[in-house]
Amino acid sequence: MIVLAIVNQKGGVGKTVTAVNVAHGLALRGYRTLIMDLDPQGNVADCLGLPSGNDLFRILFPGNTVPLEEGVYPSGRPNLDVVRSDKSSVSLKTAIGSLSDRPREYILDDVLQGAAYDVVVLDCAPSIDILHTLAIVASHYVLIPTRLDQLAVKGVRDMLYTIKSLARISTCELGAIIPTFYDRTTNESYLQLRHLAENFKEYVWPPIPQDVLCRESTRFGKTLWEYAPTARALVGYNERSGKTVGGYQQVIDRIEEVILR
Ligand SMILES: Nc1ncnc2c1ncn2[C@@H]1O[C@H](COP(=O)(O)OP(=O)(O)OP(=O)(O)O)[C@@H](O)[C@H]1O
Ligand SMILES: [Mg+2]
Repeated sequence: MIVLAIVNQKGGVGKTVTAVNVAHGLALRGYRTLIMDLDPQGNVADCLGLPSGNDLFRILFPGNTVPLEEGVYPSGRPNLDVVRSDKSSVSLKTAIGSLSDRPREYILDDVLQGAAYDVVVLDCAPSIDILHTLAIVASHYVLIPTRLDQLAVKGVRDMLYTIKSLARISTCELGAIIPTFYDRTTNESYLQLRHLAENFKEYVWPPIPQDVLCRESTRFGKTLWEYAPTARALVGYNERSGKTVGGYQQVIDRIEEVILR
C-alpha cells in the first residue's frame, strides 16, 4: 500500500480536484483506493456527489474510534472508498492536539496500518495544523499541486520546510510538484513553469491545463472521468510537435510506476 498526501498550505491551488481525479483514476485502473478528506471544508464529498458526513471524526476521535473498515463510506464507484470530513473535524483537531501520550502524530499512520487498499490519497486543508502533521507522518510521498504564479516557488519551499521539520518522526518524501491551472497561451504560465523546473528539477511533473470542466464537474458532483473523459485537464494539451503533454492521466501513469516498483 502506498499513501500519498496532497498538500499545499496555499488555498485554491487544485488540491481537492487533484486528489479526487487521481483517486478515481487509480480506482478505474483496478487499484483498491481510499480517498480521505482531512479538511473541515469537506469538499471531497461535494466533488463526488455524496452527502456530507463525519467519517474522519468517527475514525480518529481519541478514545471513541470506529475501525477504518466500518467508518469508510462507499463512493458508489468500484474500487473507491471515501472518508468524508465536515465541521466536526475542527473539534477533532482540538481533541488530538490535547493528547500527550503515544506520540499523537502517529494516530492516522496507526489507523492505516494493514488497511486493505493499494493506494490511500489524503486531501489536506490549506493550513498547517495537527491533521496536516498526521497526514505527512502517515504518507510515503507528498504531491504538491501549485498554481503557476510568482509565489509558487516560495509556497513549495514552505511545504518542503514543513516536511523537513517532521523528519524526526516521518519518512515522508517529496513525490512531485504538480503545476496546475496551466495556460499555454500565456507567456507567464510558461515562464513560471520554467522557473519551477529550474528550482525543483525532475520533481516538477507535466502540468495540468486550466480547464473550466474542472469546476463544472465539481458542481455536478462527478469526477472528470465521469463528466468529461476527454477533458484537457485529464488528457493534457498538444504541443506544436504533436506530442501530448500533462493532464491527470500522466500523473496517474507516474503514480502507477511507483505502485508497481
Ligand atoms: N486545472 C484547473 N482548471 C480550472 N479550474 C480548476 C482546475 N483545478 C481546480 N480548479 C477549480 O479551482 C477551484 C479550487 O480547486 P480545489 O478546490 O481543488 O483547490 P484546493 O487547493 O483544494 O482548495 P482549498 O485550499 O480551499 O482546499 C475549484 O473550483 C476547482 O473546480
Ligand atoms: Mg481542497
